[in-house]
Amino acid sequence: MVDVRSRAALATAVAALLVLVGCTGGGDDGGGGVDVGGVRGTPGAAGLRDPYFPKLGNGGYDVTHYALDLAYDPKSGRLDGTAMITARATQDLSAFNLDLAGLTVDSASVDGERASVNRAGNELTLRPSEDIDKGAVFRTTIAYSGRPATITGADGSQEGWLPTVDGALALGEPVGSMAWFPGNHHPSDKATYDITLTVPQGTQAISNGVRTSERTANGRTTSVWHSAEPMASYLATVAVGKFKTQVSATPSGLPVLTAADPSVAVKSAPLLARIPELLAWQVENFGPYPFSSTGAIVERNGDAGYALETQTRPVFPQDSLTVEILVHELAHQWFGNSVTPATWKDMWLNEGFAVYAEWLYAEDFEATPAQVNFEAAFAADANWAFPPSDPPSAENLFDPPVYQRGAMVLHKIRQQVGDEAFFELLSGWAAEHRHGNASTDDFTAYAEEVTGEDLDAVWDVWLNGEGKPKGPN
Ligand code: TRP
Ligand code: ZN
Repeated sequence: MVDVRSRAALATAVAALLVLVGCTGGGDDGGGGVDVGGVRGTPGAAGLRDPYFPKLGNGGYDVTHYALDLAYDPKSGRLDGTAMITARATQDLSAFNLDLAGLTVDSASVDGERASVNRAGNELTLRPSEDIDKGAVFRTTIAYSGRPATITGADGSQEGWLPTVDGALALGEPVGSMAWFPGNHHPSDKATYDITLTVPQGTQAISNGVRTSERTANGRTTSVWHSAEPMASYLATVAVGKFKTQVSATPSGLPVLTAADPSVAVKSAPLLARIPELLAWQVENFGPYPFSSTGAIVERNGDAGYALETQTRPVFPQDSLTVEILVHELAHQWFGNSVTPATWKDMWLNEGFAVYAEWLYAEDFEATPAQVNFEAAFAADANWAFPPSDPPSAENLFDPPVYQRGAMVLHKIRQQVGDEAFFELLSGWAAEHRHGNASTDDFTAYAEEVTGEDLDAVWDVWLNGEGKPKGPN
């Protein structure tokens, strides 16, 4: 037993010793923390060492909830935001980082006490007035403002905050969400969200999940959007502008909210009306739908360069609203959104499954067996540039091998194990990691376990092998 006074004396002595040997914290690896009677935490890591984006995300805490309160003025392009981030410390913390690109931080507090803020690149370092104990739940509030940036990705595609003719659209894969709110922007840290959006009256704001309220006062309309299930930050979206919205429910009672730019609404309506039917078909193949709402956002072609599987409510530029891409983005709700990649290297677990869903659609609705799409993919040279498990760099994350060759891996498993075991694997995988994260190694281990087959030949040749095999079979 150490009494309070000698404990304090010991702590002072240890702290002095640490100063002498130069161990006063400041390392960014989150390790080597010294905790003598709660004397000192260490800074959380500035990145999670993702293979492609080492600085993305931050160590030392897990976010459980984001409450974002955002006001956007389309005329000036100015965003005024408050982010309230609830997190649990995974180490004793003297400081921790958030990712934020651009914008101005107006104030920051932790548990109601002012916190100091340092900025370097996209890293925000917050130093609370007191250390945070490992295991403690703490709340960080950041007020920020400015014109959010559009980010051009490594492959030249645009993400982040995209101004549109009548508003703006937020797209976050892989790194764009840090352009509009501070957070732990790595897919491994999923959280629930409440997003409150205030826009000029006559303009609408759409986001993920369920709209729990909407009211207009003093010339501004405020809507509140609730995501009850965990979401990776790259799947959060906001669409501001004029929209034709449709609210309904599927036969099983799932709320549906679609929003289409008025200029594309009539043309989009027939396909959007198929969402309940397509989801019911996917539930048969993939198991229970993971979220408590669904829908879509359809924009003009110039507003977005590609479709994205934003959670519960995927985004489509008009020309991308085809049945194949609709099937693809809905399939991502299971594969990518509920079962989320552990790192960006595991991206084929998103895209291979979503493309395979397109092949299943062709098989079930268009009498084209998946084998036909498999052979066509085999024949295309672009699919053989690299193995799906190992994109050479961040600019290759959206390249054909991740998509088509990822789907080929699944088809090879199906050829070997047969339909019964294969469909058990699809829904089993979605169930095993529901609302979680998973890696390529998790998948290969799970596939062998659940099918009872040695699948090394599939992994060696189709998942990990360099170059094209001699033949498709
Ligand atoms: N992941 C998206 C999908 O498959 C597509 C996507 C997101 C994309 N960002 C991109 C495609 C950048 C090309 C370039 O639905
Ligand atoms: Zn996809």
